[in-house]
Amino acid sequence: MNETIPEAPPRVEVNYADRIPNNVDLASDRRLQRAMERWQPDFLEWWRSMGPDGFQEADVYLRTAVGADPKGWAVFDYVKMPDYRWGILLAAKEEGRVIPFGRHRGEPAWQEVPGEYRAMLKRLIVIQGDTEPASVEQQRFLGRTCPSLYDLRNLFQVNVEEARHLWAMAYLLQKYFGKDGREEAEALLSRRSGDADRPRILGAFNEETPDWLSFFMFTFFTDRDGKMQLESLAQSGFDPLARSCRFMLTEEAHHMFVGESGVARVLRRTCEAMREAGIDDPHDIERVRALGVIDLPTIQKKVNFHYSVTLDLFGAEISTNAANAFNAGLKGRYRETRIDDDHQLLDATYPVLEYVDGRLQEVQEPALNAINARLLDDYIADAGAGVKRWNRVMDDYGVDFRITLPHRAFRRAVGLFAGLHVDPDGNLLDEAAWQARSADWLPSDEDNAYLLGLMEPVFEPGKYAGWIAPPKSGINRKPGDFEYVIMEA
Ligand SMILES: [Fe+2]
Ligand SMILES: [Fe+2]
Repeated sequence: MNETIPEAPPRVEVNYADRIPNNVDLASDRRLQRAMERWQPDFLEWWRSMGPDGFQEADVYLRTAVGADPKGWAVFDYVKMPDYRWGILLAAKEEGRVIPFGRHRGEPAWQEVPGEYRAMLKRLIVIQGDTEPASVEQQRFLGRTCPSLYDLRNLFQVNVEEARHLWAMAYLLQKYFGKDGREEAEALLSRRSGDADRPRILGAFNEETPDWLSFFMFTFFTDRDGKMQLESLAQSGFDPLARSCRFMLTEEAHHMFVGESGVARVLRRTCEAMREAGIDDPHDIERVRALGVIDLPTIQKKVNFHYSVTLDLFGAEISTNAANAFNAGLKGRYRETRIDDDHQLLDATYPVLEYVDGRLQEVQEPALNAINARLLDDYIADAGAGVKRWNRVMDDYGVDFRITLPHRAFRRAVGLFAGLHVDPDGNLLDEAAWQARSADWLPSDEDNAYLLGLMEPVFEPGKYAGWIAPPKSGINRKPGDFEYVIMEA
């Protein structure tokens, strides 16, 4: 009898039978599979030593990606975090996709690394990849002071997804960049946020996230930078990168939700407590703090801090690196394919605010050099829309206070405004005026100590710390007292 082994069906959905879940047919590439399987224990070692501190054995109600289809891509269930099925997920391949911008516009999208751009492409992937584990490291002690099990679960969801983003970039490095790709993938596990000797690559990813207001600000502002970078890379002519980033964006949306709704709940609780106590003046900080909530001016100071640190992540507004990456077809603009122009920008200009002749004024720059400036504009508009939604909370309670984004030149360390002293309204100041006033605009040691003092953990299902309102609805429509995290016995 002639026995033949039936052929495996084509793998388009995620293969969870493999040690590494994937929808890239990992099993067909033995060399890559071995490389990834060698990287996996190092990753787990990193997760155990640098991931959430103290909750590795807890059962956490997490969503796990099971397909790349935008509808029904996730399942929810209790998982111990080290058992989370991190894997390699790319958005579906678009047949006939062409490079949407730059000098190769209209040519078929690359399925292999274009040799002439190898170094530039690898650098883009390494920089993106480095931010993913960094934020997990920055947030690793927050579990100890969670305001509720709901928030604890959201923190861990963000953490496992950032770790999956690390997987996404490590996969690209190992599959497409040979030996030096493998070395870069290892290096992603060996740098440490805030470490003096081997820090993470970008500044904001070496800052601390010491309290939960910082965490919500970070997910609102800094994860939103991540979103903009991913949107730009999702346009890439290098198709595997574009597909990786498109799937990552579906996860990123949740991080944005955690930040925006987190801050909104803090605002709501503060307004509610002020109303109950009959306090009309939001600047009566002493009385507001006596209620055990976070006064609105301190929330504004946190906005000023996180926003200005995050703007620096975009790099220099006028940048030949960004022009080269665009020209090469590697990194596009925000929603490139929806922009109505020639997508090559050889003769176009773009207005950029600059410091010229002692004042801030708009200058028409070659659009190619202003790619970062434009992305920054898109970011500012996107963040501004979220701030507008925050201000509805104050409207609801009739509280006379607006959260505002400071001027883009405020407290910048990178780019066109680095070294200038500019107040939140955009007025230039001299050194002495800045020294005298900056404490009004940025969190002081005392403000930070007050926030830290509020961070008493609440582990009882359905209960919330006094400084934050409960969410409007549960995760996956779970009831209010749902036990999102079950601690180890
Ligand atoms: Fe991420
Ligand atoms: Fe994120």
